[in-house]
Amino acid sequence: MVVKYLDLKKQYESIKDEIDKSISNVIDDTAFSYGKYAKEFENNFKSFLDTKYVFGTSSGTSALHLALIAMGIGPGDEVITVPNSFIATAEAISHAGATPVFVDVNPKTYLMDTAKLVNTISSKTKAIIPVHLFGQPADMDQIMEIASEYNLMVLEDACQAHGAIYNGKRAGSIGNAAAFSFYPGKNLGAYGEGGACSTNDPEIAKQIELYRAHGEIKRYYHEVIGYNYRLDGIQGAILNVKLKHLDNWNEKRRNIASMYNEMLSGVGDIITPYEAENRNSIYHIYAIRTKSRDALRDFLTQNEIQSGIHYPIPIHLQNAYKYLGYKKGDFPIAEEQAETTLSLPIYAEMPESDVIRVVDTIKKFFDKEVVK
Ligand SMILES: Cc1ncc(COP(=O)(O)O)c(C=O)c1O
Repeated sequence: MVVKYLDLKKQYESIKDEIDKSISNVIDDTAFSYGKYAKEFENNFKSFLDTKYVFGTSSGTSALHLALIAMGIGPGDEVITVPNSFIATAEAISHAGATPVFVDVNPKTYLMDTAKLVNTISSKTKAIIPVHLFGQPADMDQIMEIASEYNLMVLEDACQAHGAIYNGKRAGSIGNAAAFSFYPGKNLGAYGEGGACSTNDPEIAKQIELYRAHGEIKRYYHEVIGYNYRLDGIQGAILNVKLKHLDNWNEKRRNIASMYNEMLSGVGDIITPYEAENRNSIYHIYAIRTKSRDALRDFLTQNEIQSGIHYPIPIHLQNAYKYLGYKKGDFPIAEEQAETTLSLPIYAEMPESDVIRVVDTIKKFFDKEVVK
């Protein structure tokens, strides 16, 4: 039997009746494009995050893009982010017409290195995008402090951090705005594409709303050139059902992460994820590090255990960003991460026997390595 990296079918089966009903409600009401179910989700997600505004969007990428536009970021501006994120973080900056500028990550947490952040700020810097990588919130207190000192906006990339907590606050409720992705594999995943922007700032909220739907102020009156970035009705209805389960699912992931941490401690050269103080990771991804990453991954595959690599090439070394002129060695921690990181199976419904099988197989691999 294969140990799956993620089993979306299992989750669906556990909430099938609620989900099926929610989809048929949308069809009965023909509330397809945005509509009352997407609005209902926005209200519920707003309460969940404890923010003043939430706007459902067509994806996490469009949420990031919208938020940057709403903050007034455009050509000539620089936006600082990390090179070890999914490429969409940088793409959104490029789509806004601005230039991504990277800062390396902390070698323990793999989150934005706030000690290096100040040296990256230039006269063109307008915003910072900290990424709550793998579900662990970045060092928001330090980032907000630096941003306030240099008069910069902060956009949280919370695309992997639905429900994560930093100092008692939800990730996505701390910066000037935040972006979420509801890509199906996320801890809160739609059954297609989806995303959201959150903010407490009425001016940013106004701009997000305006640009999200063709710059329309009333039907067929367009104030600015906007986008079609609305959340789909069916996705809104599904997310409404799933949101009720999110904290419980996140807790289950945290339990699995604790099991892995305990059982993998001292195995080979494995480094298990480091959870910094004052925060709760939601373990969207459970990533270990080992110098034998590729061989271990092959061994897991031979033993029918799926795994992932997030991400094999840091953004500054991707062909798409060659024009920025970065080179290998510019961000050594992010580069080392790309070479050693391995994401193990994790999802709320994952059977304990599968966790044990993953660990036993990893132990077997390192026993063999030692014998060699
Ligand atoms: C950190 C991060 N940022 C942005 C995105 C983009 O989200 P989406 O795929 O919904 O456009 C993702 C999703 O994969 C992500 O993980």
